[in-house]
Amino acid sequence: MENKIKRTPRDKEPELKLRGDKIAGNRYYSKDFLHKELSLVWPKVWQIAGWASEIPEPNDFFIYKVGHEEILVVRQKDTTIRAFYNVCPHRGNLLVQVNEGSLKTFKCSYHGWEFNTEGILKYAKDSEDFVEKNLCENLSLEEVSCEESLGFVWINFDRNCTPLREFIYPAIEHLEPYQTKKFLRVLNLTAEIKCNWKMLHDNFSETYHVDTLHPELMSQMDNNYNDSQFDMYESGINRMLMPGHRPAKSFINNNVIEFPLTDVLKMWGLDPSQFNGKTSEARTALQNNKRKLAKENGYWHYEFLTNEQLTDYYHYSFFPNFSLTMTPDGFELLRPQPHPTDPERCFMEHWYMVPIIEGSLSGSSTFKGGEDISNLEGELFTETPAGRRPLQNAPHQWVEYPKESLGFIIDQDVGIALSQQKGVKSRGFKYSLLLGQEGRVRRYHEMLNDYIRRTEK
Ligand code: FES
Ligand SMILES: [Fe+2]
Repeated sequence: MENKIKRTPRDKEPELKLRGDKIAGNRYYSKDFLHKELSLVWPKVWQIAGWASEIPEPNDFFIYKVGHEEILVVRQKDTTIRAFYNVCPHRGNLLVQVNEGSLKTFKCSYHGWEFNTEGILKYAKDSEDFVEKNLCENLSLEEVSCEESLGFVWINFDRNCTPLREFIYPAIEHLEPYQTKKFLRVLNLTAEIKCNWKMLHDNFSETYHVDTLHPELMSQMDNNYNDSQFDMYESGINRMLMPGHRPAKSFINNNVIEFPLTDVLKMWGLDPSQFNGKTSEARTALQNNKRKLAKENGYWHYEFLTNEQLTDYYHYSFFPNFSLTMTPDGFELLRPQPHPTDPERCFMEHWYMVPIIEGSLSGSSTFKGGEDISNLEGELFTETPAGRRPLQNAPHQWVEYPKESLGFIIDQDVGIALSQQKGVKSRGFKYSLLLGQEGRVRRYHEMLNDYIRRTEK
């Protein structure tokens, strides 16, 4: 069955025609625009509610919050997952008051109505006293669409929505070979940030800023737009394929392999000094050695990936607000969630997921090198974009930015978004002047405009 997984295609998608909608500053601070987004866009889109292995057993649940809504996501007896508005239909009290747990029934704290995990009302005190007879028979919580895919739980408020597979096509097929549903989520951070959510999603949709904002990445990532492949699909998914494990041509020291690439090469049996003066060859050599040594080192999932995917960054932007950066050794979710009332604030989420590799080699070798799994007093650790973390499902952690870090690179992105949030309000700023390689930013805003226009009618 697993061997039937199709490899991720590398074909370049024909260019999509963009209209060139002007992206003016007010969409980043207007309350009216935020209201339109929350009322016209969010109720229509598939969104990730959580990581499915957070609720492995029947009766396990968590609460997903977005805008003014709270959704109760609960694992059923038959192991499927269903999702309901977390609101008691009696008089509108929030039904569940904790963020996660395991319960056979959900009891409202106001008058004690009790619902089972299928959302059906099982008990209402004095039920014979209902003015409308039979009202409380066959009463259920209001349900939303819910699916499990790629290791995530997805929900859509619209019960008549496009199937998830169609909504995230073709990314779903491209991502299946990574077998992410078998991964562990080792990082689960959220910080409240004083900028509009789109400011950050824009940033995660282009690499034009890497040289200036993240020069540290250039020793191992070729961010030049001529070397990357950009694809935009009709569904609204965009992708960027960026060569990894070779220094960028514009990198100042591009003739010598530097850390962390040195460690990754050593880990896979290669001597970094052999690539002095020909650093661009390290990537292919690494692909070959990874392919050769994967099985014996426990890298069970490499066989489903192409040689390029063994070294490169496959970055997917999803509509409306999150991106996944795929590497064979772990993948990253970056998601700015809108604030329910303030267009100049958002909740920035940073997750990292790694495959479980038996043996001594890392579940996250892309980020550091051979020392990724260490065993300190019996606990296993792995590298993540936010530093070393225990190799286990991570509990949720609130980060107090900027006192605490969301991860070195993300902190740089967030820092610039705070400055940009101020700048776009200036009379001196008219609208974004985008380059060709920032086409995915434009495409995303045009999708947003389409959603608003379509549903406004
Ligand atoms: S509001 Fe829930 S039982 Fe009354
Ligand atoms: Fe960035």
